Amino acid sequence: MTSTFDSVNVAFSKQSVHYDTDDSQNTILKEWRQQVYDHVYEFLKPGQRLLELNAGTGLDALYFVQSDNTVLATDLSDGMIREIEKKIQLHSLTSKLSCQQVSYDRLETITDQKFDYVFSNFGGLNCIDDLSKVTKHLPALLNDGAYVTWVIMPRISLWEMAGALKGNGKHALRRFQKNGVMAHLEGEYFSTFYHSLSDIKKSFDSSFLFIRSEGLGVLSPPPHRDDLTKKRTGLYSLLRNIDAIVRNLFPFNHTGDHLIVTFQYHK
Ligand SMILES: C[S@@+](CC[C@H](N)C(=O)[O-])C[C@H]1O[C@@H](n2cnc3c(N)ncnc32)[C@H](O)[C@@H]1O
Repeated sequence: MTSTFDSVNVAFSKQSVHYDTDDSQNTILKEWRQQVYDHVYEFLKPGQRLLELNAGTGLDALYFVQSDNTVLATDLSDGMIREIEKKIQLHSLTSKLSCQQVSYDRLETITDQKFDYVFSNFGGLNCIDDLSKVTKHLPALLNDGAYVTWVIMPRISLWEMAGALKGNGKHALRRFQKNGVMAHLEGEYFSTFYHSLSDIKKSFDSSFLFIRSEGLGVLSPPPHRDDLTKKRTGLYSLLRNIDAIVRNLFPFNHTGDHLIVTFQYHK
C-alpha cells in the first residue's frame, strides 16, 4: 500500500463514524443515489453477484442485497470496513453480504470468486491516477456478459466552471491539473485525480464494450451545496429537471460533478 493510500485510509476511517448520518441528512446525495440505482437496474438482474469497489460504509451494498443480489463489498479503509461489518451483523446478512479490506489496485487477492457486476460509487476511483491499475484485474473476476458501472468525477463540471464567472477561476479549472489535486478531508491530505470519459474508456481493454454514460449533477449543485435545496427550492428543482433532460445527451453525458459510466465484459 502506498503512503498516499495510507492517508486515504486515515481520512476515510475518521469520516466513517459520521458518514451515514451525513449521508441521510443530504437531499442531493439521496437523489443522486436514486439516479445511480436507476442506471444500475437497467443492467443488474435479481440473483446476480456484485463486487463493490470502495464500498464505504456499505450503504449501496445494503440496498442491492435487498433486491435479492449478493455482494462482496470491498474498501481500503479500516473504519469503513468496520461499518460494513456492523451492518452485516445488525441485519443478519452473512449469507448475502460479505466484505474484504482490499485496495482496488490489489484485486488479485480476491480468489475463487466470479461476479456478474462490478460497481463503484461516488468518486472512490478518483483516488487513483491510472484506472488501468484497476481494470487489469477485472477479466479474472468476471463472468461472461458481466457489467461494470462506475461513478467517477470527470474533468468537466459545468457547476465548478460557472465558478469562473464569479472570479474563482483557479477552482473552476482545478480538475484539469495533470498531476491531480490535493484533497483535504478530516485533517488529512491526499491526491485526487479527475478522469475524462475518454481516459476511462482507454483504461478498459477490447474485451469491454462501452455501453453508455450519463452526467450526475450536470447543471444542478453538488452535495456540499445542499443548502440550496431549501433556500432556492424553485431554482434547484428547475436545474434538476434540466439535468434529467440533458444528462444522457452529448456533450452533457461527458460532464457533471460525477459521471455514471457502464461497460459490458465479453470473454
Ligand atoms: C467518497 S467515499 C464513497 C463511498 C461509497 N462508495 C459511497 O457511495 O458512499 C470513497 C471511498 O473510497 C475508498 N477508497 C479510496 N481509495 C481506495 C482504494 N485505493 N481502494 C479501495 N477503496 C478506496 C475510501 O476508503 C472511501 O470509502
